[in-house]
Amino acid sequence: MRTIVITGGTDGMGAALARHFLSAGDRVAVIGRSRAKFDALLAAVGDPSAVERAEFVAADLSLMADSRRVVAQLTARFEQVNALVLAASYIRRHRHVTAEGHEASWALFFLSKHLLVTGLAEPLRASGRPVIANTSVPGAKAEALDFDDPELTQGFTFGKSNAQQRRANELLGILATRDIPDLSYVTWGPAGLVRSSFAGEVGAGMKIAATILGPLIGQQPDDAVRPLIDLIDNPTPGRAAYRGHKPVPLVVGLHDEQDATRLGEVAEAAEDET
Ligand SMILES: NC(=O)c1ccc[n+]([C@@H]2O[C@H](COP(=O)([O-])OP(=O)(O)OC[C@H]3O[C@@H](n4cnc5c(N)ncnc54)[C@H](OP(=O)(O)O)[C@@H]3O)[C@@H](O)[C@H]2O)c1
Repeated sequence: MRTIVITGGTDGMGAALARHFLSAGDRVAVIGRSRAKFDALLAAVGDPSAVERAEFVAADLSLMADSRRVVAQLTARFEQVNALVLAASYIRRHRHVTAEGHEASWALFFLSKHLLVTGLAEPLRASGRPVIANTSVPGAKAEALDFDDPELTQGFTFGKSNAQQRRANELLGILATRDIPDLSYVTWGPAGLVRSSFAGEVGAGMKIAATILGPLIGQQPDDAVRPLIDLIDNPTPGRAAYRGHKPVPLVVGLHDEQDATRLGEVAEAAEDET
């Protein structure tokens, strides 16, 4: 039986993946904040055996302490993790600092992912053909990341913050594939708008997209994640990026290997502070 770990597995595309893999007979660990949403997804699967195979880990992944606890709980519980899906999302238009002192979006969309990827390396390695599926829209510019101020204490904009995380998550693939032999690291974004919960403090434009455009042109989460399910079921070692089922080129900068190493150091320093 495969073990699939899904952050943000209580809602939107993460929940669609959790329902799919539970229905397919896999063991699924769902990480999120809402137990009620987890109970609702189990009820939606409607298979009594899924209750035995599903596990809920409550955590606020914008906090390093919670992210570390998740790693400790999962490594104590599972010798092997076949797939790690990173889909927790909370959109913030404005800069917000967590109780631990980190910029919240950088913490949730990158530092926590870095902690999970490095912390779960051993059970991922043990599975033989591991997959990390990182739902971070690929294609941000190579120079999007400010290594000297990744938490954007100066000049925060939503666009900059978003581009930084996306670039960092592509570079995280370099670190992960160095560390985990035969890893398939997929940076994946949906082909278009998906009718998800759009969790967060979204602006007027995004609210309109979610409430008006979503029902008109948005895909249902269950349909949107089909290409990702195929990529998880048929892993190809190495790094790759996709929008829906369409491969897109990985961004290649002048110094990607060095940038990845530097990013790892920046992440470890930030994590050590907390
Ligand atoms: N929807 C789209 O059109 C779209 C487009 C491009 C990319 N994406 C990307 O696809 C991924 C999934 O997005 P989605 O729209 O399907 O998500 P969503 O419906 O907004 O759900 C967000 C999920 O993240 C969890 N979450 C939020 N804050 C958290 C925190 N601090 N700690 C732990 N869990 C937290 C939520 O769980 P709780 O409610 O239990 O806390 C929920 O399960 C994201 O990476 C997003 O950026 C989505």
